[in-house]
Amino acid sequence: MPRATMPASAVNIKHPGMDQEKGGRMLVAPARSRRIRPLVLGFITVVLIYLSWSPITTVLSLLPSTSGLGGMPYTSTLLTAAKAPVPLEAHIMSKCPDAQECLRMLVLPAMVRVSEKVNFTLSFIGTPTANDGVDCMHGPGECMGNIVELCAAELYPDPKLYLGFTMCLMKEYEHIPEKSLIEDCALEHSLDFAKLNECATRDDGGFGMGLLRDSVRRSKDAGVTKSCTVRLNNEIYCVRDGAEWKDCPHGPGVNDLVIAVEKLYQSS
Ligand SMILES: *[C@@H]1O[C@H](CO)[C@@H](O)[C@H](O)[C@H]1NC(C)=O
Repeated sequence: MPRATMPASAVNIKHPGMDQEKGGRMLVAPARSRRIRPLVLGFITVVLIYLSWSPITTVLSLLPSTSGLGGMPYTSTLLTAAKAPVPLEAHIMSKCPDAQECLRMLVLPAMVRVSEKVNFTLSFIGTPTANDGVDCMHGPGECMGNIVELCAAELYPDPKLYLGFTMCLMKEYEHIPEKSLIEDCALEHSLDFAKLNECATRDDGGFGMGLLRDSVRRSKDAGVTKSCTVRLNNEIYCVRDGAEWKDCPHGPGVNDLVIAVEKLYQSS
């Protein structure tokens, strides 16, 4: 429609130049095609030699993706099926300043970029007691804070939700486990305070203590004692201790962690 309504003058203005170009091309065309033929044959020979020496994957990647072969279903299925989420774990204590810094400086900014490629676990450090309880380094209030954070992960398994909530609490770790702080952070991250409270107090607190006991045992089994310890692919990646980074062979940078996750993910 727009073309049909275009004023005839607009079309005519372009024609003289275009005709001249066409004419010029036609004049040289026969001579050029004779010279081009050996070039084309040479190019095809080079391509054939290249392909005969290339692994099959290179040959496939040379095919245009728009062609039927480029979208071969079995190759794409193989590629996606092979990718497994990389285990990433942070071992913390809820009233620990090192854990706060570790989440804020490394874990959260990295998770923003690679959350789809990792299987994230937030674990806690404590000491199991003889009567099936747990001792926490910064006292019973810390154990309660750990339980609230574990309940958040239990009720809202998406790390984006429970990590945001946990970070909110830990920015004011001195006030953990005050009710007003938990309420404010729940509201800020759209978590239901009543549900968190129900989880933390279920079975007279037995349910929450069970979550904490399992989590503490998990850290102990991994040989982790320092808050905060970040583990990637079940190996220690970096430790934040005494306001310093330690045991970080790949560096404590967010970029370094993102690259390490992506490397493991691509090779999985
Ligand atoms: C993620 O890790 C947990 C252990 O923390 C494991 O139980 C679970 O199966 C893993 N999920 C996936 C999808 O790998």
